[in-house]
Amino acid sequence: MTDAHLDPLIALRPWQAPELTSWGRLPTNAVDRRHGAVPLDGDWRFQLLAAPDAPPGEAWSSSYVPGVWTLQGTDDLPQYLNVRMPFAEFPPDVPAANPTGVYERVVDVPAEWAGRRIVLQVGAAESVLLVHVDGRPAGISKDSHLAAEFDLTPVVRPGERATVRLTVVKWSDASHIEDQDQWWHGGITRSVLLYATDPLHLADVTVRARRDGDLLVECRVRDAGGPLPEGWYVSGELDGQLLTQDAEFDRANAEDERVSAFLGEARLRAAVPEVRTWNAETPELYGLTVRLHRADGTVADTSRHRVGFRDVEIDGRDLLVNGERVFIRGVNRHDFHPLTGRTVSYDDMRADLVLLKRFGFNAIRTAHYPNDPALYDLADELGFYVVDEADIESHDHAHEIADDPRYLGAFVDRAARMVLRDKNHPSVIIWSLGNESDYGANHDAAAGWVRRHDPTRPVQYEGAARHGWADPDLASDIACPMYAPLEECLAHALSGTQTKPLIQCEYSHAMGNSNGTLADHWAAIEATPGLQGGFIWEFWDHGILQRVNDGRPAGRGGAGLYDNGVAAPGHRWAYGGDFGETDHDGAFIADGVVFPDRTPKPVMFEHREIAAPVRIDCFRHEGVVLGNHQHFRGLDWLSGVWELSLADGTTLTAPAELPGLRPGETAAVPLPFELPAEGGEAWLTLRVTTAGDEPWAPRGTVVCLPQVRLRAAPPPVHTRVPDGPVEVDEDGLLVHPLLTAAPVLSLWRAPTDNDELGGMAARWRDWGLAEPARTVVSVRRDPGRVTVVSDYVCAGGTVRHEQVLTAVAGGLLVTESAELPEALHDVARVGTVFETVPGLTLLEWFGQGPWESYPDRAAGAPVGHHSLPVDELFTPYLRPQESGGRHGVRRFTLSAPDATGLAVRLDRPRQVSVNRHRAAGLAAVAHHDELVPRAGCVVHIDAAHRGLGTASCGPDTFASYLVAAGVHRWSWTLRVL
Ligand code: GAL
Ligand code: MG
Repeated sequence: MTDAHLDPLIALRPWQAPELTSWGRLPTNAVDRRHGAVPLDGDWRFQLLAAPDAPPGEAWSSSYVPGVWTLQGTDDLPQYLNVRMPFAEFPPDVPAANPTGVYERVVDVPAEWAGRRIVLQVGAAESVLLVHVDGRPAGISKDSHLAAEFDLTPVVRPGERATVRLTVVKWSDASHIEDQDQWWHGGITRSVLLYATDPLHLADVTVRARRDGDLLVECRVRDAGGPLPEGWYVSGELDGQLLTQDAEFDRANAEDERVSAFLGEARLRAAVPEVRTWNAETPELYGLTVRLHRADGTVADTSRHRVGFRDVEIDGRDLLVNGERVFIRGVNRHDFHPLTGRTVSYDDMRADLVLLKRFGFNAIRTAHYPNDPALYDLADELGFYVVDEADIESHDHAHEIADDPRYLGAFVDRAARMVLRDKNHPSVIIWSLGNESDYGANHDAAAGWVRRHDPTRPVQYEGAARHGWADPDLASDIACPMYAPLEECLAHALSGTQTKPLIQCEYSHAMGNSNGTLADHWAAIEATPGLQGGFIWEFWDHGILQRVNDGRPAGRGGAGLYDNGVAAPGHRWAYGGDFGETDHDGAFIADGVVFPDRTPKPVMFEHREIAAPVRIDCFRHEGVVLGNHQHFRGLDWLSGVWELSLADGTTLTAPAELPGLRPGETAAVPLPFELPAEGGEAWLTLRVTTAGDEPWAPRGTVVCLPQVRLRAAPPPVHTRVPDGPVEVDEDGLLVHPLLTAAPVLSLWRAPTDNDELGGMAARWRDWGLAEPARTVVSVRRDPGRVTVVSDYVCAGGTVRHEQVLTAVAGGLLVTESAELPEALHDVARVGTVFETVPGLTLLEWFGQGPWESYPDRAAGAPVGHHSLPVDELFTPYLRPQESGGRHGVRRFTLSAPDATGLAVRLDRPRQVSVNRHRAAGLAAVAHHDELVPRAGCVVHIDAAHRGLGTASCGPDTFASYLVAAGVHRWSWTLRVL
């Protein structure tokens, strides 16, 4: 083995050479070589050096490929930082201490590969890959999220063994442009394989398939041995239909003296009659096989593709897919797994996409780098619009790098290689030049390459669009801001100056209990020409499964050690700081719409409803109007059941006949039920499910639950005639057999991440809202009634609270008011909190549900009769915070298995939460596993509850969802079951 110090690859110090993006690497292409290759995944000999120029020692351990060593038992552990680089050096420099993984294994080169061209493919390595074969340098590559291929023909001998060494240097000049908001790892994150081709081979295949059925296949052909042999030709077939040679192109080529003997070009064409076009709703794919023939007709090389016929264009301020202005219901997705970090399996990716489909998403931004290749195959197949993003984020040193000519090559290389790899995927509708890297000449250079190479797709880049949504810059055809306030988007769309489609690349930050006002956003988007949607930030909570006892990542051994969003006992979801990092950005890495185990958070149900393909567009007396809100599909793939819920507990159901509606059409359908004269408030829900099996959902999967109120609740009637005793203690606190803590005023919630990062929680702390001092002003005892007036005194002001406890037939009526001084103009809640005896385990309620909902995230929780065990009401956000609330609750019972317990009826629909944690208990801990559930229940009934907003990164909730100062009044009755 070559001494590291003499090794030319080491001597070059490529980890501090931004101009050097690769050496010996083959051009990226779209010929899929995964089939028929020799997989080299599995355990490799491994050692972790302290620096790339440290000589490897004799002590080998092993490491699993693909995988990151940071999750495989080394002392180099993951570190989470958002913007800041993990080291102080300025680009392109890196620290001398630079973990470097040396992977080695012996490979048997098949004897039958004699005479063939032998290629090594490394799926992805971060951040610099050096390749040696039998001690001889074979290549260098950068870009941690794209494959690198090396022609090993000159350095291996078929029928013999070769030692392949892959040296992966963690920190490099490239790290400065891979400063994405995620964990830092090191390793080989995608599969390694070896394949062979005939020397005469397809160097690339470009497929252009238009919605009118026009298919053009452009082939590039090379011969590894040198000039191309005479007489080669290509053929192609599309689902059995033979493609025709583009004779005109061949003729022009024959006459063109620039055409070389080294690069062959050929075109195939087809006109597919009555083509089934591709779109995200009906992702029709055709199978294409391209063959390269020798002069005698024998096949030298084959490439298989799946083809989707579709057009993407921008017309004015509309992005059109097949001529339709489609809404982009998107999410940002990282390649992530709680055990393997950035290595994701096909099955995992499929599960991601299936889940997204089931919850109404139709678009993915591959934040912030080209995702695993299989993701695009799945997006083609299941139906997603993809914004494919180049692996460029220089966040910490954005301004310096955007115009730094030393990085010019890297910018162009990264964008170009992404395009070369992914250009044939119908799902990819937009190229993105990267993320958070300011805007400079390097971006325009990349944009120029991409535009020339692929004129069929728009290009976007947020950093360019940032300077002016209507600016005619080279780097963005889309106005793609992040976290722009809705009113700014609306103002732009209404300004008359809009020139580009407005599709937010990131919006509605899903950190913790979040995504308030999502439905308001979509109401505006759907109603405003020029607004076309956006991508929620983000899909995953990137919690890494960690053993609590030794702080080590569970790694691949942790399979199955989690369920329903929660880590198994002895484990937790680690976020920033949990691996002992001193520099970190805490729980900001836990900001997805799913938990680290892909369990959907409540916002997913909100999204599902917002994206409903069929909706109740309005209610007329004799019936409802149903609308088809899709872009391409009829309603025939759906079936429905009508459900009528009456306040008195009655639920009626009837099968629904969905009308045959084309997209955009509406039709009146008669009410399925005679509305009973009695029964009170009445809600009609259309339970929409898949009528048959969809590739992403078995028959019967719920698609949406549109709902309309048929009858309002009659005004509440309370018998205010005192009837029986009311017992209070000397402080005027209710004494009740089922309550261990009497109902008192609550003005605070365990701060959500939005509350914390938006600054509200700090204000509430300054105001002392968590623990105001209660002083009793007066207690007046009348027969059957006690009136208690108290002052809740905190640093921010004094809240006068009045509680009237009246014994009424069968229970207790609690009538309350609270007066908040002007100074307390934005508190978390105004309401009542009490605690119950142990043993009450089931909550049944009439109100919105069954999942968690809040005032500004309540569009997807239908009103009905719901019931859940108390322990399942709580949502286990990684950093404990306010959770488990239910909006619009009219009444509930909280009962023990023997049906004893309590019943509460509210004066009007209110925010209620029942769980086993006090707000202070939730706020006191950093991880879910540190929570100790109480035996009894903590019950909150809120007269007003602040919306959630998205202020952890982006706009806060709207003014209409804030809790105002002034007088709040509410009442409720408490009954023993
Ligand atoms: C954006 C950024 C994302 C992520 C997000 C906050 O600014 O593009 O990568 O950091 O904010 O979670
Ligand atoms: Mg960033």
